Amino acid sequence: MRGVIFRGLEELVVEAIGMQAWDELLEAHAPEGRVYVSPTSYPDAELFALAQGVADKLEKPLTDVLAIFGQSLFGFLAEKHKGISSKFTSFEELVLSIDSVIHMEVKKLYNEPNLPSISAMVKDDKTIVLEYCSSRKLCFCAEGLLHGAAQFYSRKLKIEHPQCMHKGSSHCILILHLD
Ligand code: HEM
Ligand code: ZN
Repeated sequence: MRGVIFRGLEELVVEAIGMQAWDELLEAHAPEGRVYVSPTSYPDAELFALAQGVADKLEKPLTDVLAIFGQSLFGFLAEKHKGISSKFTSFEELVLSIDSVIHMEVKKLYNEPNLPSISAMVKDDKTIVLEYCSSRKLCFCAEGLLHGAAQFYSRKLKIEHPQCMHKGSSHCILILHLD
């Protein structure tokens, strides 16, 4: 996973529980002297270990931490890549463009990024059905990112997750219900 994602986690942890907590997490779960540089890739296992460390500190399930992380990550990525995020005027437009525009642009900026495959289909004017597939199985993070995007456009969003890679499916299904 890119350094930019680790920096997003760092920002959240420092804001929520302080710099000392982040230093302790790094000491426990990252090689000595680790500094995350946005375009550089670091092991996925390191991100998971740090996220698990946050979960342990907060006594929350890892899935909750990944969802909260995803939610704050959206604002972080959108701010860092304004050129990409400012292309969209609505939540719907953004969600329908995750693979075809957003992550496509990410591929131009970062050398061989590890991205999920996300397809979105409008079911009716209040419902979008999304299929998520990735070897990293970060669907809870995806849910968080979607909530972050909804917040960004001041929309009310509920997500159903009736099929999940963590339950043996080949891909996850996320049903987005908008107000
Ligand atoms: C990675 C979903 C918007 C840039 C990821 C991952 C997920 C995801 C789940 C983790 C990798 C994986 O699952 O395999 C989404 C969703 C979005 C969204 C659902 C919108 C609601 C954005 C935006 C940007 C962005 C706005 C920046 C302009 C990235 C980058 C990575 C990433 C840089 C890391 C690539 C790597 O580590 O190599 N995205 N994303 N995403 N996304 Fe997105
Ligand atoms: Zn899932």
